[in-house]
Amino acid sequence: MCGIVGYIGKAQAAPILIKGLSKLEYRGYDSAGIAVFGDQVQVVKAKGRLAELDEKVKNMGGVKGCMGIGHTRWATHGAPSDKNAHPHTSMNGRISVVHNGIIENYIQLKSELEKQGYVFVSETDTEVIAQLFDSLYNGDLVDTLIRVIGKVRGSYALGIVCSEKPDEFVAVRKDSPLLVGISEDGNYIASDIPAVLEYTKDYYLLNDNEIVVMKKDGVTILDLDKNEIKKDIYHVDWDISAAEKGGYDYFMMKEIMEQPKALKATISPRLDNGQIVLDQLKYTDEDIKNINRIHIVACGSAWHAGIVGKYVIEDLARIPVEVDLASEFRYRNPILNKNDVCIIISQSGETADTLAALREAKRQGIRILSIVNVVGSSIARDSDDVLYTWAGPEIAVATTKGYSTQVALMYLIALKFGQVRGCVSAEEAAKLVAELESVPEKIEQLFALDGKMKELAEGHANAKDVFIIGRGIDYAVALECSLKLKEISYIHSEAYAAGELKHGTISLIEEGTLVVAIATQDTLYEKLVSNVKEVKARGANVLAIAKEGNTEIAEVADEVIYIPAIDDRFTASLDVIPMQLFAYYVAVARGCDVDKPRNLAKSVTVE
Ligand code: G6P
Repeated sequence: MCGIVGYIGKAQAAPILIKGLSKLEYRGYDSAGIAVFGDQVQVVKAKGRLAELDEKVKNMGGVKGCMGIGHTRWATHGAPSDKNAHPHTSMNGRISVVHNGIIENYIQLKSELEKQGYVFVSETDTEVIAQLFDSLYNGDLVDTLIRVIGKVRGSYALGIVCSEKPDEFVAVRKDSPLLVGISEDGNYIASDIPAVLEYTKDYYLLNDNEIVVMKKDGVTILDLDKNEIKKDIYHVDWDISAAEKGGYDYFMMKEIMEQPKALKATISPRLDNGQIVLDQLKYTDEDIKNINRIHIVACGSAWHAGIVGKYVIEDLARIPVEVDLASEFRYRNPILNKNDVCIIISQSGETADTLAALREAKRQGIRILSIVNVVGSSIARDSDDVLYTWAGPEIAVATTKGYSTQVALMYLIALKFGQVRGCVSAEEAAKLVAELESVPEKIEQLFALDGKMKELAEGHANAKDVFIIGRGIDYAVALECSLKLKEISYIHSEAYAAGELKHGTISLIEEGTLVVAIATQDTLYEKLVSNVKEVKARGANVLAIAKEGNTEIAEVADEVIYIPAIDDRFTASLDVIPMQLFAYYVAVARGCDVDKPRNLAKSVTVE
């Protein structure tokens, strides 16, 4: 959600900024702009895709200068337009600002500035920063930025250029991502690593309200009292190809195909001779035995992974688990007790609501274990313990390998806690660990369904509604499959616990309505088959997902997709694969922009 790139160095800034922004497209945006300091500061903005901005810059004969800031905007305050696009500039043109986040007290600040004679041209909260900075400017960028921070409330990552300072610009972040890239040839700010990975693998990770002074030959980081902060350099060990399509039409397909590798990377280092070793977890066996309740908190697909977690942790470790949406948890005054643990799940580690929920749990004094994909992200840094999902960079807005690796960690935690608490015997644990280890290979086998899922998807590309039903863990997966389909294909879809259908939703079933029935829980299989019969009797067209060997469902369903046999608890990792392919091919058949669905952002950094 919004992307920021900034550069100061030996090279021309504009191409670096536009290229960098193109690597942040996945975050979601509807307009873009740059401000480049040459003889003066030139600002160019355009509604729509980056290509429009690029075109404008080219038509101007390029924008010259070796320092600049750039932005992709995902509209919050004011519709997408050239006027509302960033950078925003103070009335006199002195200050230009790019911003990710929300300034909560902007109305009050705006009216104060209007009284001083400032005239606003956009509907955004960000313009307030530019005008406020200008009104407080005393010739020193750091001093002024500190005073600005003292007056604004909300979340922000900011890059600020001043027309009186050709050799430096400043940046800061609070609750919105921003990192600093450093190299011999110049220095960078960016919302995420892929934006500048082509130029450097060395970064500084910023904490809230650390002020960065960016110069051609160096970067200084200061606290709010202007004391210099010495930071370790964080070195990225993956290269740009990990964040490129590599021959696939869309990142989503590449990431679907990367799941076996990502799962191996997440699971294997945590297994030692069949024993689960969660080495980054600083819990003693005593700590694990004393856990009273687990609160899993997340958004979107990460929340769905948490629901799988509830089923398996309660089943294997016999610890009560509550799963909350972060946006609800943070405001509902949750009851957290001393021996409770909060598990935060987030691919990006930057989701605003999830981060706020983490802080609420922390405020109440309970221990935070986070499951995060992005190393050094805000959530990872604010947690007591972190277990990383080693999925690698995920670019498509709709998560696939991120979700799968989160689910794998749910399994590892459930097994580990179950064993330590004496709920799972060594023999059973060995059997379950072997099942878990078989998941990547079974996913490879499922890829053979690619052609079949494409054919089915093309047949259902014009569906109006799709219902996805399941029981137990199959229901948890149904939630994820339904989200995948609706977010990228724009077909209305709902997931239902199959037993709940008769309490309302079955009235929506008409002749030909597509119902996907996930029937991979051996213990609940017969009940699910009965539910399939009920919807069939009302005209539904049923696509079932079942385990190899469970053949009687073929007599009732119109189509059956078989997954390899596996313990009931691990079906979540397999069921989702054909449905990711199905959603992908439906979206392609409908001509949708698979990687960048309308209105969505990969990293939701505002609440
Ligand atoms: C967005 C993404 C989803 C993701 C959710 C939570 O909605 O499109 O794929 O599940 O945010 O993101 P997180 O980074 O916290 O896992």
